[in-house]
Amino acid sequence: MKILGICGSPRGGKSQMLEADGIVLASPVYLDHVTAQMKALLDRTSHFVHCLRLTGKYMAALTTSGGGGGEATMAFMKPNLQPYHH
Ligand SMILES: Cc1cc2nc3c(=O)[nH]c(=O)nc-3n(C[C@H](O)[C@H](O)[C@H](O)COP(=O)(O)O)c2cc1C
Repeated sequence: MKILGICGSPRGGKSQMLEADGIVLASPVYLDHVTAQMKALLDRTSHFVHCLRLTGKYMAALTTSGGGGGEATMAFMKPNLQPYHH
């Protein structure tokens, strides 16, 4: 099984997401949000969600913080997981 861990990359990652059996989205909390890199990745791959290109893959998200903002950051990433197994 091929699991891909993504911390957010401004370039690349799209074909690896399509090839992987599972995807882990991971971002530290920056100013109560995901990092700019994770936001850019989710922007570039938003059509994957809308067109159900990741259906059937195992999906998970995780975040780390200095003490707060984890809920808001997870809430932002969570809709990207909902159509899938997680
Ligand atoms: C630009 C920047 C913004 C950050 N914003 C927050 C924040 O809003 N809330 C918070 O709890 N931690 C914040 N942090 C701390 C990071 O989330 C934390 O450093 C990261 O999760 C890694 O944890 P570590 O420093 O213990 O390794 C911020 C860090 C940076 C560099």
